[in-house]
Amino acid sequence: MSGLLQGKSVIVTGAGSGVGRAACLLFARHGAKVLALDIGQDGLDETVAAVTSEGGTCISRICDVGERIAVDEAVATAVETFGRLDLIYNNAGITLQPRPGYAGVRKLVDTDDDEIDRIYRVNVTGVINGCKAAVRQFEKQAKDGQGGGVIVNTASVAGLIGWGGSAYGSSKGAVTLLTKTLALELADQNIRVNSVCPAGMATNFIPGLQTSDAAKASMAATHPLGRPIDPMDCANAALFLACDLSSNITGVNLPVDGGLSAGVPPRR
Ligand SMILES: NC(=O)c1ccc[n+]([C@@H]2O[C@H](COP(=O)([O-])OP(=O)(O)OC[C@H]3O[C@@H](n4cnc5c(N)ncnc54)[C@H](O)[C@@H]3O)[C@@H](O)[C@H]2O)c1
Repeated sequence: MSGLLQGKSVIVTGAGSGVGRAACLLFARHGAKVLALDIGQDGLDETVAAVTSEGGTCISRICDVGERIAVDEAVATAVETFGRLDLIYNNAGITLQPRPGYAGVRKLVDTDDDEIDRIYRVNVTGVINGCKAAVRQFEKQAKDGQGGGVIVNTASVAGLIGWGGSAYGSSKGAVTLLTKTLALELADQNIRVNSVCPAGMATNFIPGLQTSDAAKASMAATHPLGRPIDPMDCANAALFLACDLSSNITGVNLPVDGGLSAGVPPRR
């Protein structure tokens, strides 16, 4: 299947690495015109080069999703460049970085206030900023008789079940419930809101996390299907939620987790 986003104007945040880069590649392969946003220029340059080398359309801007004005400006850029906005993929997210000498998942009591603020600013405020800016643009377009619009968020399996620590998990829980509440708020405007909920991926998210064979094997074993999640697995799910194949689906938090959130596997 090809051309699922033919001619659509889309924004992808956190587009300089991992899931965001995979989504830019996949969306452009399906005919989208992509505005890639990130805080890192090098990653954006690599993403734009990867997409354009395949003949796709992709431009980039530095944008910190925690800055509301910067996100509003990015939406304006997409509209100026591509004529309108059809989709925003609010994918940028961060987690706690490992603390030397601290083994295991960080407990809330051992997490500093500024670490929690940083996570919430990107993972929660960043998604809210993207949703608000996109909805304002969708509403303008509706006045011109071109209603509708699509929002896809990247939450996490940590927004569905207890996994990965309280600071990060609670921020992603905010994204999964925002996805549902906003979907209901916007349904009568034909604006759909869904999220992708990944489990563990070897991206730049926690640098060096899965470098050893033992770490890779342990990560694979966490997922019932027996392998870690690939960023393109998430991009495929985001594509489905972004395109008309899911035109009657809204308010869904779709796990891309190899079965991790399904429950407790049977003993073998
Ligand atoms: N990697 C995992 O194991 C995992 C698991 C579950 C969910 N997720 C989620 O998937 C999404 C993508 O993560 P990834 O694995 O591709 O990570 P990644 O670190 O490889 O990519 C994230 C990108 O977001 C960018 N970014 C960070 N802060 C930003 C900001 N304020 N504004 C704009 N861009 C910013 C980074 O520069 C980076 O390029 C995140 O929302 C993350 O929470 C990741």
